[in-house]
Amino acid sequence: MRPLRSTRKVGSSAGGSMTSSMVRLNIPLDPAKTGREAASLENGLRRMIVGQDEAIEQIVNIYQMHLTGMNAPGRPIGNFLFLGPTGSGKTRIVEATAEALLRNPRSVIKIDCAEFQHSHEIAKLIGSPPGYLGHRETHPLLSQEVLNQHHTETMKLSFVLFDEIEKASDALWNLLLGILDKATLTLGDNRKVDFSRALIFMTSNLGASEMSNLMSPKLGFGAGAARDRMNSGVVEAGMHEKLARSGAEAARRKFTPEFVNRLDKIVTFQPLGSDQLRKILDIELNMVQQRIFNSSSDRAFVFTLSDQSKDFLLEKGTDIKYGARHLKRAIERLLVQPMSNLIATEQVRGGDWIRVDFDGENKCLLFAKEAEGLPVQEMVRLVDTSVTMPAMAAANSASAEAAKIQTARSSKRS
Ligand SMILES: Nc1ncnc2c1ncn2[C@@H]1O[C@H](COP(=O)(O)OP(=O)(O)OP(=O)(O)O)[C@@H](O)[C@H]1O
Ligand SMILES: [Mg+2]
Repeated sequence: MRPLRSTRKVGSSAGGSMTSSMVRLNIPLDPAKTGREAASLENGLRRMIVGQDEAIEQIVNIYQMHLTGMNAPGRPIGNFLFLGPTGSGKTRIVEATAEALLRNPRSVIKIDCAEFQHSHEIAKLIGSPPGYLGHRETHPLLSQEVLNQHHTETMKLSFVLFDEIEKASDALWNLLLGILDKATLTLGDNRKVDFSRALIFMTSNLGASEMSNLMSPKLGFGAGAARDRMNSGVVEAGMHEKLARSGAEAARRKFTPEFVNRLDKIVTFQPLGSDQLRKILDIELNMVQQRIFNSSSDRAFVFTLSDQSKDFLLEKGTDIKYGARHLKRAIERLLVQPMSNLIATEQVRGGDWIRVDFDGENKCLLFAKEAEGLPVQEMVRLVDTSVTMPAMAAANSASAEAAKIQTARSSKRS
């Protein structure tokens, strides 16, 4: 063992349990630093999620506590309540966490609470008691098998998302309280499901109307100007704090203290302004590119957008009330649908490079073929890899196939 550098001897006044051979070091420690795995989760989330730093931080903190065995035993790994405007990333961040840790965004088990309002619907979740008609045929949605189905060799975590919890019936609410507190659910046939390796996320639109009023005031001094600023994608200073307060207050008003006490964290998601939407546009464009690479390897092509065409999509896709959902709809309508027409009519083929520009006169996007017969390396080089690099790795193999086919074709042509 390396001898410790002695600073000063511990005197008897320092505490009865210390021995005289113990030395004091007084080395400052940094508790804000996270371990390698938590840091890697944080980086992954920051690549996929824009403008929701608090939510990212809370998820990373809880994950780190889990890794070091510091979270409370006999409870789920984390219980989160997400509030805030629609289309701000509440569902997406759960999928992104599952993607970062399990490499599968579809591994999130989603329970839409609005679908379980009556007691007979609860049977879909927990199965019916033995003896009931159809007992054997019902496969509970929340069984241990379902919970563990996406576990990997190295990562035994489950992600469970309860959407719109304010719509849950009393019966569902009682189940939820048991899960949050004891990490246990009792199925219809009395089997127990263990949630101690699960992260529980709940979302609610609670306080949404107050929040939307804060973001886009209808009455009062300066309401018109404030609304205009919001509509053009400017989130006012102090808005984040106001929304967070409004969300937490709404949660305390609506939910019982026994529920609120079982939560590790209530996070109010922030409205997305132009700066955030601009970054989300790049992420979404990369996802469209990914879809093209994945859909059919022999049809893989690349597209690039000029700055003006991105500005146009942003202009059409900015609506602070609907967040990124509105932007996604604009991308589908103005970019994806026209491109699918180009594919269907064989104006675009595998190995093509499509350039998208903005026609200022007619206020629409222009599509032009910049090159054809590109080898895969060339296509990959054209794609912006800064945002979704891990996903691009999968695309590489898909487009490698495309490259082979492409080379085969070009050799036939020559
Ligand atoms: N902060 C964000 N960062 C990156 N992408 C986002 C963000 N917010 C939304 N998106 C994009 O918009 C889509 C819709 O967002 P999401 O489903 O997470 O909304 P939500 O907050 O759950 O809304 P709702 O309350 O209506 O369920 C996501 O799939 C994602 O593509
Ligand atoms: Mg959602």
